[in-house]
Amino acid sequence: MSNKIIDNIDTIEGVAAYLKQHEEKDLLRLLTCGSVDDGKSTLIGRLLYDSHMIYEDQLAAVMKDSKVHCPTGDDFDPALLTDGLKAEREQGITIDVAYRYFSTDKRKFIIADCPGHEQYTRNMATGASNCSLAVILIDARYGVITQTCRHSFICSLLGIKHAAVAVNKMDLVGWDEQVFNKIVRDYKEMAARLGFTDIHFIPVSALKGDNVVNPSENMPWYDDVTLLHHLEHVNVTATENLIDMRYPVQYVIRPDLNFRGYAGTVASGVLRKGAQVMALPSRKTSRIASISGPGGALDEAPAGLAAVVTLEDEIDVSRGDMLAPVDNLPHVEHEFEAMLVWMHDTPAELGASYQLKHSTRTLPAVLTDIRYRVDVNTMRKIKPDDPAESANAAKVKELQLNDIARCHVTLHRPIAFDPYQRNRHTGAFILVDRITHATVAAGMILDRIVADSKREPVSRNISHSRSLVKPAQRQALLGQKPCTVWLTGLSGSGKSTIAREMEKHLIEQGRLCMVLDGDNIRHGLNRDLGFSAEDRSENIRRIAEVARLFNEAGVIVITAFISPYRKDRQSAREIIAGTAEAAGAGEFVEVWLKTALEVCQKRDPKGLYAKAGSGAIVAFTGVTDPYEEPMHAELAIDTAEKSVEDSVAVILDDLAKRIVIK
Ligand code: ADX
Repeated sequence: MSNKIIDNIDTIEGVAAYLKQHEEKDLLRLLTCGSVDDGKSTLIGRLLYDSHMIYEDQLAAVMKDSKVHCPTGDDFDPALLTDGLKAEREQGITIDVAYRYFSTDKRKFIIADCPGHEQYTRNMATGASNCSLAVILIDARYGVITQTCRHSFICSLLGIKHAAVAVNKMDLVGWDEQVFNKIVRDYKEMAARLGFTDIHFIPVSALKGDNVVNPSENMPWYDDVTLLHHLEHVNVTATENLIDMRYPVQYVIRPDLNFRGYAGTVASGVLRKGAQVMALPSRKTSRIASISGPGGALDEAPAGLAAVVTLEDEIDVSRGDMLAPVDNLPHVEHEFEAMLVWMHDTPAELGASYQLKHSTRTLPAVLTDIRYRVDVNTMRKIKPDDPAESANAAKVKELQLNDIARCHVTLHRPIAFDPYQRNRHTGAFILVDRITHATVAAGMILDRIVADSKREPVSRNISHSRSLVKPAQRQALLGQKPCTVWLTGLSGSGKSTIAREMEKHLIEQGRLCMVLDGDNIRHGLNRDLGFSAEDRSENIRRIAEVARLFNEAGVIVITAFISPYRKDRQSAREIIAGTAEAAGAGEFVEVWLKTALEVCQKRDPKGLYAKAGSGAIVAFTGVTDPYEEPMHAELAIDTAEKSVEDSVAVILDDLAKRIVIK
């Protein structure tokens, strides 16, 4: 071993201290990606050599080999340290992911060395899946090329948030600052569409050793850190999900009737004794009674720790189930959307069945839809050849080796999962061939299945049936044109009161109308929804759909919902009135009851502002939850200034123009 390491460990105490220090250092898993000739092996070799991580005998062998293989005629080729596979050197490509370990005073490192050749996307997917940082190599002579885009895209897809871009071979471009600056600009522009949270650019020459471990004397214009210094100091703690506790059960331990424990590894977050947990997918709840770690009983177990837990109650938990906190649950569904990297020579077929391995569970899964493939070089969706073709005709039916595609996966039973970008452990899966047991795909769950647009069904097997009756026929029958009057405003602004008065007037005028009111609908159709932003949004979406149906039937609709979010009201407008491309059923009239919060608070008809003030309601609109004021409402009425009768008169006046058949 080189002297630097053994200097301080020539006594037993020295060895013990060295080992202890080594044990406590944190670990950075990183991935290197670059094209065949970018100099990846040279870079890794340089890292190992200059940081004195090479055994003497290895070095001697390399020195000898260098005489045969060295591309530059210099006496040492660092690539020979890393190119373990002879075939690779002979063919000029690396043929599988290789892991290399090294450490410095600051950190331990595991490098997943991935091949850059086009055919090897799958290897990269394998290598990247547990890495925190990607070293992306760019040949200074060629700049950002399609392979750079592909590597960066896959790294980002696999959830890597940190990138170190090593612009290599600076010696071959005369150490030119302008060349480096242009590559930085080009890369930043390309990467703007990716999910990296930090990107660091370093001009290097791996072959000559500049800025890899030791600062360069050839590039005085670069005054930032070397690659190794960056790798030693970059903060990557955020890569792990420390928030959402997920405990996938690997085994049920039941030695006798008195003990029932669940063995597993905490996938994310922190498992705490006494915490209330839900077993998924059964949804039975209990509390954590005890946690045993490798060293004995624990009050807490962090992510990554193998443990055995017991629960306070005898609930049914089996292998493959997941424990999660009752107030922070993953999705539990029997289908989801995912990005798939196809890794097998046999193509994926739409409708084919595979074994899906997710966390500690294995179960049958069917590929029910391939929505689109991604061109990994340009990061664009591959569009159907002929846009005039129907969605079905243009559908992708197959995936080839190394294809990346957005797919629907359907399971026989529900599983608990999180989106991969939020949780790499509970959001990742692989597909296995049911007969050969070969791994055919790696998958990253995107989310539950939600329709592409507001009005598109999840399944492609659904089409519209057209009415034989024209809207004009209904209008003639009812003697009116339908529309939706959308009342929006704070709780207590008078929405329900005005809606009911309007309804009465309209009916008395012989107009068929219907009121949809927040509190009422939340007793029936929307009784499953609360007041989170997502639930409010779904509340409004469903109401808009109902209003549209009433309008299609020819009925005038008056809605009374706080509808606090601008984008939800805009969606409601599009659902009801349609967009420029697709006209809807009725006119949409947004009426903002812009009564001041203080007035609403004073009125407090349901005593809810008092409750919100005392903290009994946590997210109350106007108090602790937002209300986004309309910017283009058709009408705005301050009910502090106008009586109910006057307000109703203003709206009905406006409506008269709209509902009368000309
Ligand atoms: S919306 O925000 O989703 O549009 P919606 O109009 O359906 O709300 O329901 C609002 C009614 O629910 C209020 O009139 C009030 O009676 C009641 N409510 C209960 N909790 C809340 C809350 N946190 N925020 C607003 N309204 C609430």
